[in-house]
Amino acid sequence: MKDMLSHAYKHQYAIAAFDVVSLDFIEGIMAAAEAKQAPIIISLAESHFEYFDFELLMAAVEKAAVRTDIPVAIHLDHGESYKSAVRGINLGCTGVMVDASNLPLQQNIEQTKAVVAMAHGCGIPVEGELGYVPGVEGEDAERHPGEVVYTTVADAKTYVDATGIDFIAVSVGTVHGRMKGEPKLDFERLTEINRALQIPIVIHGGTGLGEEQFHQLIKNGVTKINYYTALADAAGRCIANNATSTGSAGYTSLVKGISDAIQLEAERCIELWGSAGKAEALLSCCRPTLPVEHVILYNTKDLDADGIKDMMAEGKRVLSEIPGVREVFTGDVIQEDGNYRYCWVVRFTDRSVIDSYRVHPDHQHFADTHFRPYAADGRVSLDYQASLLDEDSKA
Ligand code: 13P
Repeated sequence: MKDMLSHAYKHQYAIAAFDVVSLDFIEGIMAAAEAKQAPIIISLAESHFEYFDFELLMAAVEKAAVRTDIPVAIHLDHGESYKSAVRGINLGCTGVMVDASNLPLQQNIEQTKAVVAMAHGCGIPVEGELGYVPGVEGEDAERHPGEVVYTTVADAKTYVDATGIDFIAVSVGTVHGRMKGEPKLDFERLTEINRALQIPIVIHGGTGLGEEQFHQLIKNGVTKINYYTALADAAGRCIANNATSTGSAGYTSLVKGISDAIQLEAERCIELWGSAGKAEALLSCCRPTLPVEHVILYNTKDLDADGIKDMMAEGKRVLSEIPGVREVFTGDVIQEDGNYRYCWVVRFTDRSVIDSYRVHPDHQHFADTHFRPYAADGRVSLDYQASLLDEDSKA
């Protein structure tokens, strides 16, 4: 995602970050991005988690990202805590936002800084928000209560320098949800922020802005536009039309055509924001997501069968929670004459996790008290990065 947004920043266009709440959204958005050969960011907002199972939808998003030819980033939108960011990364997000914009500057800095240290240790970039983008109405916009607080240039500089975030979401007059009246954006403020920071800027509350406003935003450093309510409204209108035209209350008749309606609106945005046709150029300059398998082959001493089982179960539980760990596999050898009777295969998000994992206190504690004392000498421990085959370069 960092490579994607750096390219967009340099070439003055914006990549769509569409929030998804169901498979219809994923299908419509991916169809739009593929039709337009555009890079795309699929976002999952924690404020929507009551509408879908995060883990299940992530599996579908990741599949959509891996099987397509266009560059896709997967983003945790409005993450509520450090813990949420770890969960997002461990489930496959390639970018995270933790939104502490409702807190005073110093607290926002502290929370964001901790997330940046953790996420960078997993090879994942971070979006922070400064200033406050409120919600007006529609699609849970009321989850962002209160008045707009504009981002100031001085605070933004302090915030970026202190936290080390990769992208900054700013408040220059947009709102989440449906607009009431014509939104007035403070472009002068945005120009100054961009001049002072020189990092990709994110706009929340894309729904309802006019074409000229989008052009002005993009001209002034905006490279990621968060957009959701208009897609949800297109889906809602589709259901209402189906209900009227078919007279049926059946689920499949009501939801028919939703992904097409979403695709139409997504294509309009992609075209308008200048990301159409950028997929190929991006693929040649973006570092793909290449997971690493941390492999340990071992034998045990001083442990009976139950002891070995308990040790493996405890390792699975503890190690899975460490930032950057996608999966922990424990295995028993199948061949009778195998030299190593047991294995761990721990999948990392990125090669940078090799270092952060080694020094993580939970890993060290588990290794020192549960594993090393019972693992016989002469074990094998190696890390393998996924091979960059031609068909993987799009992943
Ligand atoms: P809209 O729903 O107003 O498009 O905003 C989406 C958003 O900012 C998600 O982070």
